[in-house]
Amino acid sequence: MNIIEINNVKKDYPLGQTTVHALRGIDLTIQEGDLISIIGPSGSGKTTLLNIIGCIDSATEGSVKIADKEITRMNDKDLTNLRLYKIGFIFQTFNLIPVLDVLENVEFPLLLMKQYTRDQIRKRAEKLIGEVQLKEYIRHKPSELSGGQRQRVAIARALVTNPDIVLADEPTANLDSETGATILELMKEMNEIEKTTFIFSTHDADVLKYAKHVVKLRDGHVVEH
Ligand SMILES: Nc1ncnc2c1ncn2[C@@H]1O[C@H](COP(=O)(O)OP(=O)(O)OP(=O)(O)O)[C@@H](O)[C@H]1O
Ligand SMILES: [Mg+2]
Repeated sequence: MNIIEINNVKKDYPLGQTTVHALRGIDLTIQEGDLISIIGPSGSGKTTLLNIIGCIDSATEGSVKIADKEITRMNDKDLTNLRLYKIGFIFQTFNLIPVLDVLENVEFPLLLMKQYTRDQIRKRAEKLIGEVQLKEYIRHKPSELSGGQRQRVAIARALVTNPDIVLADEPTANLDSETGATILELMKEMNEIEKTTFIFSTHDADVLKYAKHVVKLRDGHVVEH
């Protein structure tokens, strides 16, 4: 089954008197259970494309379907629910909540879902925090962590809801190769066991080894799939 179908997607950003054409007509179909890597030079449109698939930004033109639903026509409430229940997002800049500690950051999406007890939420969050090897840091605030540790909190938070689709913008950029490998193994396992679809952007050759497919962007176009 196609979990994502992108047709002729364009994204323009107004910038002063000019327009930046970040995406210039992207066509891309992604199968459920794929593990796909998006590569391309800086500025080629990787983050823009992930933001559009993740319903964080909207396309200027074109069609984006997630699980057969056209997201460009969804209202805010449906988009919020789609993001919360179906999608896990790991941002290039982490986007952790600064006033919450590690445990609270990871618990946060589960609280929003309003379908689990306090106990279930705590257990599930602790499990993920253990898997990203941050047990000792559970009471630290993001400002009290290194870049790689913050990235791992963001990864735990994205995976904690067991989403159908995980979007990750440079997920291993700030990690040493050993920690990066542990996290890629965790994602590979989720991909195999839960059929979670993963879409990464990356510059990292180690990440590419895990990918089943590679999409190459240049100047807002797909140049290779
Ligand atoms: N909010 C914005 N306003 C104006 N231009 C933008 C905005 N966001 C991105 N761009 C431009 O759109 C293009 C694509 O940017 P994008 O962030 O998607 O690239 P990228 O492939 O993720 O790069 P990197 O590898 O450096 O993260 C770039 O030319 C960038 O300058
Ligand atoms: Mg980027």
